[in-house]
Amino acid sequence: MKNIVILISGTGSNMAAIVRAAERERWAERLGARVVAVLSNRPGAAGLDTARAAGIATAVVDHRAHASREAFDAALMQAVDAHQPALLVLAGFMRILTPAFVAHYAGRLVNIHPSLLPAFPGLHTHQRAIDMGCRFAGATVHQVTAELDHGAILAQAVLPVLPGDSAEALAARVLTQEHLMYPRAIAELLLKI
Ligand code: GAR
Repeated sequence: MKNIVILISGTGSNMAAIVRAAERERWAERLGARVVAVLSNRPGAAGLDTARAAGIATAVVDHRAHASREAFDAALMQAVDAHQPALLVLAGFMRILTPAFVAHYAGRLVNIHPSLLPAFPGLHTHQRAIDMGCRFAGATVHQVTAELDHGAILAQAVLPVLPGDSAEALAARVLTQEHLMYPRAIAELLLKI
């Protein structure tokens, strides 16, 4: 069985979409894969409750309890590896990972980013797209490499920026597309790993 571990920092709506897809599409039978754990760097992340309610193991590795980024990543790696992941999925995980962490999961670490990469890596993607006058916005699923938001692109969802759009309204429409795209991209990847 291919174990999937998901890292979150907040709401975890993408994580929930993946968990729902795994059940609905019977990933265990069809792809030999299952979501085994959801880990958060924030103890109060709402997604932890969602995961628990779905019967999935959860854990918190609080970044504030670690003196350095390296120490946090080492603790996180230990917690993740306890679940022997075939695939590590970042879903609204808002910490920058060290090159050592990324190298450890090379080829089995993916992220979803709320822009059409390579445009707008980093934060405040929707406001930046609106400010630039972009006609289209979206989200990207990509392999994670040591350079932030720069790995090979696995899937993209594109939608128009509407006249008078706010960052919040645009983010909400993009998020709806993320929920469709991310489980699909993961299912495709599971066939290859
Ligand atoms: C999503 O829009 C995701 O693309 C974004 O955070 C949101 C998390 O929502 N990720 C990043 O900005 C990563 N740099 P969720 O917790 O409800 O899935």
